[in-house]
Amino acid sequence: MRAMAVDVKSLIGEGADLTDRALEELLPSVETVPASIHGAMRHSTFAGGKRLRPVLAMQAAVTIAGALPAGIARLGAAIEMLHTYSLIHDDLPALDNDDLRRGKPTCHVAFGEAIAILAGDALQTRAFEVLAGLDSPPAATVQIIGLIANAIGTVEGMIGGQVLDLESEHIKPTPELVQAIHSAKTGALIRVSVVAGGVYAGAGADDVERLDLFGRKAGLAFQIMDDVLDMTVDSAQLGKTAGKDLATEKATWPAVFGLEQSQRYATQLIEEAFAALAPYGSRAEGLKSIACYIVERKN
Ligand code: IPE
Ligand code: IPE
Ligand code: MG
Ligand code: MG
Ligand code: MG
Repeated sequence: MRAMAVDVKSLIGEGADLTDRALEELLPSVETVPASIHGAMRHSTFAGGKRLRPVLAMQAAVTIAGALPAGIARLGAAIEMLHTYSLIHDDLPALDNDDLRRGKPTCHVAFGEAIAILAGDALQTRAFEVLAGLDSPPAATVQIIGLIANAIGTVEGMIGGQVLDLESEHIKPTPELVQAIHSAKTGALIRVSVVAGGVYAGAGADDVERLDLFGRKAGLAFQIMDDVLDMTVDSAQLGKTAGKDLATEKATWPAVFGLEQSQRYATQLIEEAFAALAPYGSRAEGLKSIACYIVERKN
């Protein structure tokens, strides 16, 4: 994969800062009654996520518009709220039963199971409230809301993928099954982050198609690497419990294809994804560099 001219660390750092500032403004303070749930929402949101989905949305917008559109940090923040909700619920005892997330105790460990469930729910509803108030033209806003709701839903979306993931524990997965799980549970939100960023910046139907194709491949590569990192990096560096997938017999990409082939395929997917961005020339450099980071990251 060709090294990008863009400094990816600063690109992510700047996007993450913009996202954090928006989240700070948009989430109720810990003093707001009822304080426990706002503490829980903030605990998980500000525990130190990479903010990759907001950054992908921002760089997709730059790919379309040539610059960051005003107000896009609120789109990124809403997406990050949805992602954080999915993590809180993913970690619950009834799902993956994890006690470490983003280097901190998981939401249910810190605040109890009931408040963790409700904090996930509340991040979801707050996210849609924020989306409804975006500065994009009303038609674009409605499009973004529909696309995002679909991507986290049950039909090839995040929740559907989580159901498949849970129901596929302890069985030897087929390539088709693991592809369906990964594209849905993780790929869909990544894909829609890219598409929504583009739509916010004024993408037309052809642009949406290209961004969708890019996002689909990058999203699958992202979860393949998540599986690889689970097997190759320790908990301290990951900020979550390493080695969990093997222990719980999860349907992962390496379980089907092995570690080496998984890593190679993730890199190949990113190279394939680049092709969709060819019409945008240098305006897509940022987006491409984030895609490279997806397979090069160590947490
Ligand atoms: C982890 O996502 C969960 C998956 C969907 C695979 P990230 O690796 O983006 O987690 P954070 O946001 O940086 O904590
Ligand atoms: C999580 O997949 C996907 C969602 C949160 C929707 P994993 O269960 O592999 O994520 P980690 O490894 O716990 O972050
Ligand atoms: Mg899971
Ligand atoms: Mg998990
Ligand atoms: Mg994982």
